[in-house]
Amino acid sequence: MSKTVAGFSKLSKSEKIDWIVNTYFSSPNNAKHILKQYWNNDEKLQQLHDEFIENTITNYYLPLGVAPNFLINEKLYTIPMAIEESSVVAAASKAAKFWLDRGGFKTTVVSTTKIGQVHFMFHGNFDTLKNYFNTIKPKLVNEAKPITKNMELRGGGILDIELRNKTEEIEGYYQLHASFETLDAMGANFINSCLEQFAKTFKDEALTFNGFSEKEKNIEIVMSILSNYVPNCLVRAEVSCHVDALSQQNGVSSEAYAKKFVQAVNIAEVEPYRAVTHNKGIMNGIDAVILATGNDFRAVEAGVHAYASKNGKYSSLSHAKIENGIFTFWLKIPLALGTVGGLTGLHPLVKLALELLDKPSAKELMQIVAVAGLAQNFAALNSLTTTGIQQGHMKMHLMNILNQFEANDNEKAKLTEYFKTHTVTHSAVVESLAKLRQ
Ligand code: MEV
Repeated sequence: MSKTVAGFSKLSKSEKIDWIVNTYFSSPNNAKHILKQYWNNDEKLQQLHDEFIENTITNYYLPLGVAPNFLINEKLYTIPMAIEESSVVAAASKAAKFWLDRGGFKTTVVSTTKIGQVHFMFHGNFDTLKNYFNTIKPKLVNEAKPITKNMELRGGGILDIELRNKTEEIEGYYQLHASFETLDAMGANFINSCLEQFAKTFKDEALTFNGFSEKEKNIEIVMSILSNYVPNCLVRAEVSCHVDALSQQNGVSSEAYAKKFVQAVNIAEVEPYRAVTHNKGIMNGIDAVILATGNDFRAVEAGVHAYASKNGKYSSLSHAKIENGIFTFWLKIPLALGTVGGLTGLHPLVKLALELLDKPSAKELMQIVAVAGLAQNFAALNSLTTTGIQQGHMKMHLMNILNQFEANDNEKAKLTEYFKTHTVTHSAVVESLAKLRQ
């Protein structure tokens, strides 16, 4: 059967499934059964999910877990996390509990500005272009009013538009570099609509601008798009306590523990190989909350990693110090998030997750997400610098291995008990299960 298809998007859902299972699977009925197992019985709910994207054939489940006991600026939260990695929620919960007894997390939103750019080509005199830009700037803002009106009523909107000369990098390349305040919306649609309007006004008005030569009148718009690099949409999260209050960890004095922890962070600050893994651990917490709250984790990932390289070398997003006997551990990250618009009003589980967080503003969500990242990083470094990561990881992985071998409830209970005092390895679990089954 041919593996190409014409007009696929126009087929019905069941026709699409038929084509897929018959084209790609040795057992089409089994494949169809698996796909249908994940459909929701509630047809309206299923349709809602079908319509999020094109060519939907089924739903892809991720577990939604919760990590309780997060004290953030004196308020208690239970944080929802959607993630497949076994140890993440347990680690977050453990870190939350640890810091609950030591004053909790302190956070501040440093800034909330978002950026968008119109990229264009102009072949002519820069001073004349500058003159045109300054003349037309009020009109750029004015003609975008139908888009910005409501946002302005709520206190947001366009903050500024600058003309940027990029001709040293590419001949004839300039930008309208615009900044925005989008309040509780992530703002992608708002920003992109504004930019496309700027581009239209900017191109159209050039045709009748007296200062331009015939050649200069032809401004070529290349594209208009928001930037996911948001170094001025920043949040900071911190934990701190007296070194003594860290208490003895796994037989190591609190001073030695704190010192080693700081060393581990210092290594991630200077060594990119380590920094990437260190930051991946931070993103374990961040992405899980971003997903649970219906935000765009790809945008956040791209922006965060760009920020981690802002000094020309990829480095740690978190930092730690011991000063006058006080241990402080903190991170500062860019996060462009929304608590209105997008999936937030559509996906029932996203709505539930936001309600669990007491319907946060975007600023509050930035703080909660940053804390989830810091907590995750704390838990990872705590394990790495004491017992090693595998002890906890393999304990959590035990259930995955047992499920892989289709262990029943009785086998699971017995082996979970047994591995409380024995080292989990893949082969040890397989052997124990085999013995149990003999
Ligand atoms: C695993 O998902 C994350 C860690 O590798 C993070 C780290 O090394 O800091 C444990």
